[in-house]
Amino acid sequence: MRMVEVSEVTKQYGDTTSSYRALKGVTLDFDAGEFVGIMGPSGSGKTTLLNIMSTIDRATSGKINIDGIDITLIKDKELAKFRRDTIGFVFQAFNLLDNMTIRDNIALPLTLNNVKLNVIMAKMTELTQLLGIYEQLDKYPYELSGGQKQRAAICRALITSPKVIFADEPTGALDSKSSSEVLECFKNVNRKLSTTIIMVTHDAVAASYCDRVMFLKDGRIHGRLESEGNKQDLFKKVLDMLAVMGGTSHEFV
Ligand SMILES: Nc1ncnc2c1ncn2[C@@H]1O[C@H](COP(=O)(O)OP(=O)(O)OP(=O)(O)O)[C@@H](O)[C@H]1O
Ligand SMILES: [Mg+2]
Repeated sequence: MRMVEVSEVTKQYGDTTSSYRALKGVTLDFDAGEFVGIMGPSGSGKTTLLNIMSTIDRATSGKINIDGIDITLIKDKELAKFRRDTIGFVFQAFNLLDNMTIRDNIALPLTLNNVKLNVIMAKMTELTQLLGIYEQLDKYPYELSGGQKQRAAICRALITSPKVIFADEPTGALDSKSSSEVLECFKNVNRKLSTTIIMVTHDAVAASYCDRVMFLKDGRIHGRLESEGNKQDLFKKVLDMLAVMGGTSHEFV
């Protein structure tokens, strides 16, 4: 089953006097349960595409279906509910609230929805055990490592049982050990909860955890790579693809 369908999407920033076409007709699909990476040089349109797919921003033209719903037609009023029910977000900067415990941070999307406390707590236990931060629930964000904060942020994204998680450079602020812990968690979530995960990343190691990697260049799809089950092989193919795309190495750091 198709979870996300993107068809001929364009995005133009600015107005007629000064405008920039960040996406020039992007068509791609994501199946339910896939873990897909999006890569490409800086400025190629990755964040633009992710923001449009995740309803943070609107496309200039084109169609996007998520779980069978055309999000380009959803009214702003209904968008909040759709987002809450269907989508989870994970950002590079974690975006946890400093003055709340990890427990309260994770519960927040459900407490805002008036979900019963015992339901919240059952879900909380399941997710924080899966993500390895059960022991950290009473702490505040400043008491956690970067990797623990990001795993807490992933729990917060998952607490509403979304069908799709959109992550923009989720390991961008982490050292390599914390990054691999976060990526292992994504892999577990993807396998055990069947959550579809769409992740923008600059990091070939991060991309190697994915089932498939899509490459953007100058606002267009430039290529794709499929995993054959071996991370090391995909890692090498990703590096080759990045080299072929002609970006200088600093663009991918
Ligand atoms: N709000 C905006 N107004 C005008 N131009 C924008 C805006 N946001 C992005 N752009 C431009 O659109 C292009 C694509 O930007 P985008 O942020 O999608 O790139 P990216 O692939 O995520 O890059 P990076 O790897 O650096 O995060 C860039 O040239 C950028 O300058
Ligand atoms: Mg970006």
